[in-house]
Amino acid sequence: MAGIRKGIVLAGGAGSRLYPLSRVVSKQLQPVYDKPMIYYPIATLMMAGVDQIMIVSTPVDTPRFRDLLGDGSQWGIRLEYAVQPEPKGIAQAFLYAEDFLAGDPVALILGDNIFHGKMDLDRTMAEFDGGASIFGYAVNDPERYGVVEFGRDGQVLSIEEKPAQPKSRYAVPGLYLFDGEVLEIARRQKPSPRGEYEITDVIGAYLERGTLRVEKLGRGIAWLDTGTHQSLLEAGQFIGALEARQGLKIACLEEVAFNMGFIDHAGLAAVVADLPHSSYREYLEQILREES
Ligand code: G1P
Repeated sequence: MAGIRKGIVLAGGAGSRLYPLSRVVSKQLQPVYDKPMIYYPIATLMMAGVDQIMIVSTPVDTPRFRDLLGDGSQWGIRLEYAVQPEPKGIAQAFLYAEDFLAGDPVALILGDNIFHGKMDLDRTMAEFDGGASIFGYAVNDPERYGVVEFGRDGQVLSIEEKPAQPKSRYAVPGLYLFDGEVLEIARRQKPSPRGEYEITDVIGAYLERGTLRVEKLGRGIAWLDTGTHQSLLEAGQFIGALEARQGLKIACLEEVAFNMGFIDHAGLAAVVADLPHSSYREYLEQILREES
């Protein structure tokens, strides 16, 4: 069962903290500098070698994601869509993705999580051989996240969702790798006191079985939050600053598809020919010239 080729992007939720931005445009469609937010988690999966992705979203927003992203063939991948009728928690996503999963291991990424930097996710995915793998990322405000506690020799002691008194500074980012057992675990789950099927409880089940791995992400990696107006602005400024400095785009899905070999030069040229005249198109035209 080695390796992960499938991913789920969960893009549900009300995004109520972003009101009124989120009144008619879902959180994961908001701009992060020059792209819709969901481009970033999709790029993270593609760069890790994932070429079959299911987007799970609300009844209202799913058609919008489909309009934006299509069936993925333009990027040499397969995109599917599933509707989560009510926003009852991250762990529910697996239930709607049962046919897509077909018992295979999967990477779940939250549609509002932005990662940048050398995570070696392609290696972690390729070497994945069962259980669950998650990450730990030092933050200033762990109480806002799932928090993982480590013992003296690095073993995982506990994982708690938004604890009032965090036992460590390590938050759990919204990127999780699970084996095919995850569906059964999600099915047996009970809702938490806030009425949600918590991803932290799914991870807890793997911890109990002794098959949970947690990898600490180092300082060179950015894991950005987009949940508030301030953090959304800062994420845009971060991406904008890097792109302006290097002249290289982050999470440009056409470029990622080309670099990963999901499409060839002719495939990239065909996609670019369909784009409206814009700085985004000019960027890709430059890549076409450089690579020809
Ligand atoms: C969710 C998870 C939490 C995780 C966070 C990462 O929280 O429940 O464990 O740390 O995503 O973004 P939420 O964004 O639903 O508050």
